Amino acid sequence: MIRRFLHALRRILRSAEPYRRERVCVTAGMHYFFFNRCGPVNGSLLRRNTHRLEKGLIMRPRRDVFALDYIEETVQAYRAAVEASQRGEPSLPPEQLQWTHDVLDEYFAVTASHPKIDPLRELFGRLPEPLRPMPEPLIPYSRDLASPAPVGYEQLAALALRRRSVRWFLPQPVPRDLIDKAILVAAQSPSACNRQPFVFHIFDEPELVRKVASIPYGVIGYEHQIPVIVVLVGQLRNFFDARDRHLIYIDGALAAMSFILALETLGLSSCCINWPDLPDRERKLAELLQLEPDERPVMLIALGYPDPEGLVPRSVKKPLNLLRSYNFE
Ligand SMILES: Cc1cc2nc3c(=O)[nH]c(=O)nc-3n(C[C@H](O)[C@H](O)[C@H](O)COP(=O)(O)O)c2cc1C
Repeated sequence: MIRRFLHALRRILRSAEPYRRERVCVTAGMHYFFFNRCGPVNGSLLRRNTHRLEKGLIMRPRRDVFALDYIEETVQAYRAAVEASQRGEPSLPPEQLQWTHDVLDEYFAVTASHPKIDPLRELFGRLPEPLRPMPEPLIPYSRDLASPAPVGYEQLAALALRRRSVRWFLPQPVPRDLIDKAILVAAQSPSACNRQPFVFHIFDEPELVRKVASIPYGVIGYEHQIPVIVVLVGQLRNFFDARDRHLIYIDGALAAMSFILALETLGLSSCCINWPDLPDRERKLAELLQLEPDERPVMLIALGYPDPEGLVPRSVKKPLNLLRSYNFE
């Protein structure tokens, strides 16, 4: 009993250290956010505010005047982005610049005259038009619901059943275009305010795969035959407040699931690998990947062509009644 108590006490005392390191990363992220450490353009602020404007535009009924508390910072940030791109400096990707432009254009077209909005409408009108990589205006639209969903429930359920964590792979290279295709599906995942605060770092060069795979604990015994290893890294620079510090994990995990299912449709299999919050592991991975102070690994994913002779654990799932409740029942 005493031994158990001392063991628990040691663990509890040691748990202060991961929280301290998390605080350092969250603070570093806020520093990036507020002091433009990523360049003159705050892409995260623009993504969030453009998204908020779109939500205002789709309200039913729509208000004549909205976004008063953030329209100025949005126009100013957009202006900085346009000017940076004109000078040939790093700015927003063209499609995002067009999205913000088109949403602001729509906002100023539908909002009523207001002392706060009118000067900004005028300023926006004076700014040069960005390039238009997309022919259509990138503003709220009606989805085509005339045809049924392209994938039926039975197919999706079958895909979910087929996907299993696979740890044994064929010694066969994985074409990068397949991984990219899976990332494109992952990119369609929801994320809080559409910020997508993560990057997939992919390693397919055997020496690098070996180095990365040697860092987490979870691959012991099968690390030597992983063809590709992905490190999903969250970027806390997307957030202005510690209240959002969990979003790198939530948004990252949602994207990871889409990525994993997409891999499966492409004949590839994968296994998530836990990222333990341990100081020596964090340091090693941060050094190898040259992570910025606000960047934190969310998880790793091993992937490749599955070895048909490799077994997969049965991993029986919880029954429905343990996974959900309706109205407290
Ligand atoms: C966040 C996360 C971390 C995981 N970490 C590891 C790991 O370190 N090593 C491993 O072999 N499997 C790991 N797994 C795979 C799980 O063991 C597996 O998903 C679970 O047993 C269910 O099996 P299934 O994926 O085949 O349904 C992880 C899965 C998740 C989602």
